[in-house]
Amino acid sequence: MSSEYAIEARGLAKSYGDVHALRGVDLYAERGSMLALLGPNGAGKTTVIRILTTLLIPDGGTATVGGHDVVRAAARVREVIGLTGQEMSVDGLLTGRENLVMMGRLFHLGKAAARQRADDLLEQFDLTEAAGRQARWYSGGMRRRLDLAVSLITAPPVIFLDEPTTGLDPRSRQGMWEVIRKLMADGTTILLTTQYLEEADILADRVALIDGGGVVAEGTPGDLKRRIGSERIEFQFATDDVAEKAQLLVGGAVLHGNGLSVPAADPAEVRHLINRVADAGFDATGLEIRRPTLDDVFLTMTGQTEGATL
Ligand SMILES: Nc1ncnc2c1ncn2[C@@H]1O[C@H](COP(=O)(O)OP(=O)(O)O)[C@@H](O)[C@H]1O
Ligand SMILES: [Mg+2]
Repeated sequence: MSSEYAIEARGLAKSYGDVHALRGVDLYAERGSMLALLGPNGAGKTTVIRILTTLLIPDGGTATVGGHDVVRAAARVREVIGLTGQEMSVDGLLTGRENLVMMGRLFHLGKAAARQRADDLLEQFDLTEAAGRQARWYSGGMRRRLDLAVSLITAPPVIFLDEPTTGLDPRSRQGMWEVIRKLMADGTTILLTTQYLEEADILADRVALIDGGGVVAEGTPGDLKRRIGSERIEFQFATDDVAEKAQLLVGGAVLHGNGLSVPAADPAEVRHLINRVADAGFDATGLEIRRPTLDDVFLTMTGQTEGATL
């Protein structure tokens, strides 16, 4: 079975006992692009990745990776993918270099070729200095980079990254983004899962929002930002009643008690919206401007039409 997409899934369903982890997931990623699967804990992201990487058989639906069916041609799929899971897969007692060389040998590279590949990857992932140290002494960010390097030994054209930056400090996260960008520049197709809106926005060509085992919206990061705004204005009013009236003046606002959360595309629109509310005679008792969070995305998306295209 061939597909024009590097990754394509239709109607994927999976239950664990009576937990319906996936309830019909549709996804696609064009060759050489990055799709970010964005969703909170428990949304079903890892389950999608496990099915697409042949580690788990779906109860329903079909999927292809590199044109191969993930169930009927699982061995072919494994030849074209790399996977970096949420848990560390490297051996802590081996050095960074030893981990990479061992993996290269496992994939039938000759001794010299395995060493060369290890050195190239250590360099690419900024681990040359730490190459001779046991992996158990690596920082969180270094460990994730080594994990990623190990999954790239065979230079697979499609890679899956399951929350590669969760729990990393901001600097390590930036380092991870840099190496992911290099992979993208090489034309690798990437499916990345994340709980960070900012990460999906910065890296991905397309974003699929997943919640409760289903894709609730999908589109480009630009589409996403147009819907939720790249800034949010938080108004507080004296009473719920005033907040409700102010809501009628602005588009896409979310009301919570006497608070009103309003999306804005840019600083100019922030000013414009604040003025509009003030000019209409609604005095805000509190005012705050902040970046949108994943919660805002879901409030905005799922509070409106389900399954909408952004
Ligand atoms: N092995 C399992 N047994 C039972 N329930 C599971 C198992 N794996 C995941 N789940 C449940 O399935 C749902 C989706 O989990 P998961 O795919 O890991 O989500 P995410 O990766 O987005 O956090 C959650 O409710 C989770 O508790
Ligand atoms: Mg997960």
